[in-house]
Amino acid sequence: MRVLVTGGAGFIGANFVLRTLATRPDATLTVLDKFTYAANPSTLESVADRVDVVRGDIADAALVDRLVAETDLVVNFAAESHNDNSLADPSVFVQTNLVGTYTLLEAVRRHGVRLHHVSTDEVYGDLDLNDPVRFTESTAYNPSSPYSATKAGSDLLVRAWVRSFDVAATLSNCSNNYGPYQHIEKFIPRQITNVLTGIRPKLYGDGRNVRDWIHVDDHNDAVWAIIDRGRLGETYLIGADGEVDNRTVVQQILTLLDHPADAFDFVTDRPGHDRRYAIDPTRLRTELGWTPTYTDFAAGLAATVDWYRTHREWWAPHKDAVESGYSATQQTLD
Ligand code: NAD
Ligand code: DAU
Repeated sequence: MRVLVTGGAGFIGANFVLRTLATRPDATLTVLDKFTYAANPSTLESVADRVDVVRGDIADAALVDRLVAETDLVVNFAAESHNDNSLADPSVFVQTNLVGTYTLLEAVRRHGVRLHHVSTDEVYGDLDLNDPVRFTESTAYNPSSPYSATKAGSDLLVRAWVRSFDVAATLSNCSNNYGPYQHIEKFIPRQITNVLTGIRPKLYGDGRNVRDWIHVDDHNDAVWAIIDRGRLGETYLIGADGEVDNRTVVQQILTLLDHPADAFDFVTDRPGHDRRYAIDPTRLRTELGWTPTYTDFAAGLAATVDWYRTHREWWAPHKDAVESGYSATQQTLD
């Protein structure tokens, strides 16, 4: 099977490439990636002889048409993915997440190629902290940030192309991923690399916001389960029952790195900050038989801390730039 992995040099896409090479000898992989700031070219270096890597934009219609014509399946991970950046400059989010997805849809439509579109639980907005409710496939869309609004729009485009043009597509909406090769702008790797470089971890607001953590390998195994056995046109929510509040995550990271658990700062809150996400993965489990491997978040976090501790060369060259970007908008609170 020929697979075109868009965004395959980013966090989840690169893990998808590495895992697919290890587990699916039948797959031939091409990566299409724009190599924005979020892509680290060294991530795929070890497999450079086994993957065809094309540097380009999913909104480049001629390039996308040529690549889609030569594949059996497109898995779309390409996106602008960081909420904080979308608050500072939404324009590239509209361009990549909406125009880029539209461009892919027109190409798969023309060539009759199967698409799996990777999306986020943030399209559903947020939940109250003490609400027993979790998101399901029938929860109404209610995105909060420019990032999540453009992801919601991209999902709706995919659904419309399925209904109007019979495009063979599936969708998935996953909760927060963690694991190796995640950009250090994101919460968990930012705090790990803060501690490793002598900076105190930074918690937005009161630090009580809850995210539903899933290991990136479990996410990617679920993507393959949907590609293999999912019903065309359907959406599957992906989550691993991993709800933890941000303060607890920071305390766990500090403890794992032998620092006092209270050695963190509270900083200015993110505008519009979603309070809680939580996924009900019943459809994925019952219909497709998927179960997560990483059921112990503390153990998965410990392995992730270890990965960043032993892969400084991967992230250290970018640390100063990421922190000086944040310091422009974030003040420490008393
Ligand atoms: P990432 O920012 O780490 O990687 C995104 C990749 O897309 C980068 O390699 C970047 O260079 C590439 N890219 C950006 N614009 C492009 C364009 N116009 N053309 C081609 N390539 C382009 O993001 P990630 O965390 O790996 O997320 C991947 C996908 O999964 C996104 O669609 C995101 O919305 C979704 N998702 C992420 C999470 C999470 O917790 N990180 C959870 C659920 C869903
Ligand atoms: O839910 C899925 C989404 O998860 C994905 O769609 C996004 O691509 C991905 O970035 C992630 O979005 P979040 O906004 O939840 O992730 P982030 O890592 O930015 O932040 C996680 C939580 O930690 C959130 O409540 C904000 C908080 N935070 C973040 C940073 C960077 C802090 O308290 N301090 C920080 O320094």
